[in-house]
Formats: sequence, structure tokens, C-alpha cells
Amino acid sequence: MNTEKDGPQEELRVIVADPLLPEGFDILREASGITVEDHTQDGPDELVRALVGAAGLIVRSRTKVDADLIRAGSSLQVIGRAGVGVDNIDIDEATRHGIVVLNAPAANTYSTVELAFALLLGSVRRIPEADASIRAGEWKRKELRGTQLAGKTMGIVGVGRVGGEMVRRAQSFGMRVLAHDPYVTEERRNELALDMKPLEELLRAAQIVTIHVPLADENRGLIGRSEIALMPAGSILINAARGGLVDEEALAEALVSGHLSAAGIDVFETEPLPDGSPLRKAPNLVMTPHIGAATVEAQREVSRQIAVSIRDALLLNDYQTALNRDP
Ligand code: MLT
Repeated sequence: MNTEKDGPQEELRVIVADPLLPEGFDILREASGITVEDHTQDGPDELVRALVGAAGLIVRSRTKVDADLIRAGSSLQVIGRAGVGVDNIDIDEATRHGIVVLNAPAANTYSTVELAFALLLGSVRRIPEADASIRAGEWKRKELRGTQLAGKTMGIVGVGRVGGEMVRRAQSFGMRVLAHDPYVTEERRNELALDMKPLEELLRAAQIVTIHVPLADENRGLIGRSEIALMPAGSILINAARGGLVDEEALAEALVSGHLSAAGIDVFETEPLPDGSPLRKAPNLVMTPHIGAATVEAQREVSRQIAVSIRDALLLNDYQTALNRDP
């Protein structure tokens, strides 16, 4: 990797392109040999100019780090994603240029798990509808009958950090858990006492399916029309992982037909959700605007973790959270 691109005396410039909390800026400001620059208000052209000669770049999901941007940052040594998902970064291109890509893998875990459960509970107990009806002057105790989670089967697709915490919470709700994850290790299976199933079997058996995998080319549209058709009538789908994993048209149709009794969705193929999206009119759907990581604690931790990782990569050649090189 390009750890020798700048002379030893030069300050290493780190460009922050998307919002980062002061905790993150402070860590980088206090690091001797690093200069941190706030470019969060820049337009695309200004960002390209700022990247010339820079050693580090920090983004969240807003900035698309595509091949052009990577080429503009020809001195970059590291790109840090303040968050987990790196589908906005062209990692192959970064690797070709010898640039290390880092993320903050553990900072959002609890906030995402808690949001997934909030979406599920909101769906099964019809909380948005109940709230709206009280505001409309109603008191619909009989009509607002929900569904209990205890005794139900939850199918968890992906049992990494977030999926694993979903397992624990589902068990504590008295649910039976099935899991699907082609990459799970035996150690992880044993640790969580997982009942692993092929995806189709999980979809056929679970009343609630929740997805916790990163988006990649090979799993785009993972839950499409035919997968939804396999789910039992009246089942529920939760996606707080990534847009693009679920076919949104198929989901809207299944909600309209009643094949799915409810869904909770935090992430969308195009964000913000376009005006014409069929999801806007779909019934029994609880939606949130990609706020899985939006807690005070997660934001603080994401900012802190990515700043530490960038600092340690640049100054100590320590690549603990590198996605495209061994630590
Ligand atoms: C993540 O990938 O960290 C979360 O989805 C939140 C975000 O995109 O910033």
C-alpha cells in the first residue's frame, strides 16, 4: 500500500467529506503529523480539488467514492467510511490504486438492532396507525388488534454483528430463531446455538424475516418476488440493512395483496425514497429514513472509531479495520 507517498516531514492531510462529530475531528487534530480539513459543505468539484495531495478521506454514505473520485485522490493512502456499509466506495478501484479502505464496523450494531426491533414492534402492534388515530380524535381499542411475538419463528438472514444481536433479542422475546448465512463459522454457530437453514427453507418456515447482510453485486435483489412468494401468507419482512436487497415493487405488491401482513423498512434502493415509489402507498408498512445508525451513542462511536482507525493507519501503519488488506 502507498504508505511512502508523502515525504516523512510533510503533514498528512485528511479530508472529511461527510459529517463527522467533533469527537472525530478532535482525535485527528490532536495527532501530530496530521492536518484535518472539514470539506462537508463542498460541492463535487471542490471536493475533487481538495483531494489533490491528500493522504486520507473520510466519508459516510452521502459521498460516492467512485473510480473518478479515487483517481482525483492520487495521493490517498486510506479511505475511511464512518459507518459499516461500504457499498458507496469502489473498493476494487481503491485496491488497484493501493488505497486501504477502512470502516467502523462495530459502532452501529446496537442502534441498528434496536431499530430493526422498533420496526418489528411498530408493525405487529400497529403503533404508527394507533398514534395517527389518536391524533385524529379516535379511540380504536378493538380495531387495533396486533400480533404477539412470543412463540413466533424469526428467520434471520445474516448472523454477523447485527444479526447475532438480533438472535439474542429474538430469543429473549420467546421466539424460535432460524438463521441463514453462507459465511457463518462453526464457532459462531455454536456460540449462538444457531439452527441454520438454506434461504428457501427459512423463508418457508419463518413468520418474520429480517435481513442483516451487506449489499454486494451477488445479493442484489436477494428478496425478490419469488422469495416473497415462498413466505407464508401473513408473514412480515424487516429490512434495516441495505436498500437493493429487497425488490421494492414486489414488496409493495405483497403488502397490497395482503400476502405480507406487514413490513418494516429503514433502507431503500434509492435514497431519499423517490416520490413515485410504490412503497409510499403500500399498506401496513412502517418506514424510517435510513436511521439505523442515528443514535447519539452510535454517531459518537462511529466518529471516534473512524478517526482512530485513520490516525493509526496513517501514523502507525496499523490497519485493524481494513477491508482490502490484512491488518
Ligand atoms: C451504516 O452502514 O453504517 C449505516 O447504514 C448507517 C450509514 O449509512 O451511515
